[in-house]
Amino acid sequence: MTMATNFDQRVALVTGAGSGIGRAAAKLFAAGGARVIVADINLSAAEEVAAKIVADDGQAIAARVDVADEASVEALMAIIVKEYGRLDIAFNNAGISDEQHSWIDFPTDKWQQMIDVNLNGVFLCMKHELKLMVSQEPLQDLRGQIVNTSSGAGLTPAPGQPHYTAAKHAVLGLTRSAAQEFGHKGIRVNSVLPGLTQTSMISNQPQAMLDHLAKASPTGKLGSAEDVAKIAVWLCSIDAQWVNGQAIVADGGGLMH
Ligand SMILES: NC(=O)c1ccc[n+]([C@@H]2O[C@H](COP(=O)([O-])OP(=O)(O)OC[C@H]3O[C@@H](n4cnc5c(N)ncnc54)[C@H](O)[C@@H]3O)[C@@H](O)[C@H]2O)c1
Repeated sequence: MTMATNFDQRVALVTGAGSGIGRAAAKLFAAGGARVIVADINLSAAEEVAAKIVADDGQAIAARVDVADEASVEALMAIIVKEYGRLDIAFNNAGISDEQHSWIDFPTDKWQQMIDVNLNGVFLCMKHELKLMVSQEPLQDLRGQIVNTSSGAGLTPAPGQPHYTAAKHAVLGLTRSAAQEFGHKGIRVNSVLPGLTQTSMISNQPQAMLDHLAKASPTGKLGSAEDVAKIAVWLCSIDAQWVNGQAIVADGGGLMH
């Protein structure tokens, strides 16, 4: 995986970095010279990713965070300030999936859990990241770059998934709200919207269904974690400094169908 982007001196937080898209993004940020906080609810997975980055001559620390828990998010920010003294980039990517449910019998606890992680988690992370970013000196005129992971389900409903669909739509609203309010402070906020991507999140889906969806896509395949991570990392780069408040679909054109 190579990328020309230069993140020297930048401090980059990635949530959900123990696996999939977040793990790929953490590696890319580190390869670009960033000091990376590999954050995940699964600490041992985060530690493995951070150790791999360090073994490859990058800079990273692992931290446990539950993005749905404000005290845990605040504790993460305290670690970032203690270790690195600032926060330039935040990729709010942690998320969960769920099986399909009928509206009529929808389990309310599943609704709540989804909203807690996939929506409140993004809000809580942004709230505390923005607090840190506005208080720091800018680097190259920028105080911060934030990217939130939404989904194709942020634009079009995922069948049997009103909770996932609602949370991912709302991530776009949160993104635009913050982009509007913090643009004049030198902070950009965008969303990346992956289509079906080959990570552990979809590993329990029937292979026949995945093959069918891959064939139906214009590219004839599903995306990899790296395919999506490259877009998120680019959005955090200086090259993307004129992109703000946008929802960038990363799916090889699958959403056109
Ligand atoms: N894989 C896909 O097809 C797909 C499609 C669209 C959107 N997405 C989104 O991409 C993001 C990353 O998913 P992925 O595909 O890499 O899945 P993944 O399961 O490989 O990674 C998700 C990571 O988030 C972590 N996590 C879960 N809950 C957390 C919490 N409360 N606090 C902190 N970390 C937590 C998990 O431990 C895991 O390491 C998610 O937001 C997901 O909704 C994925």
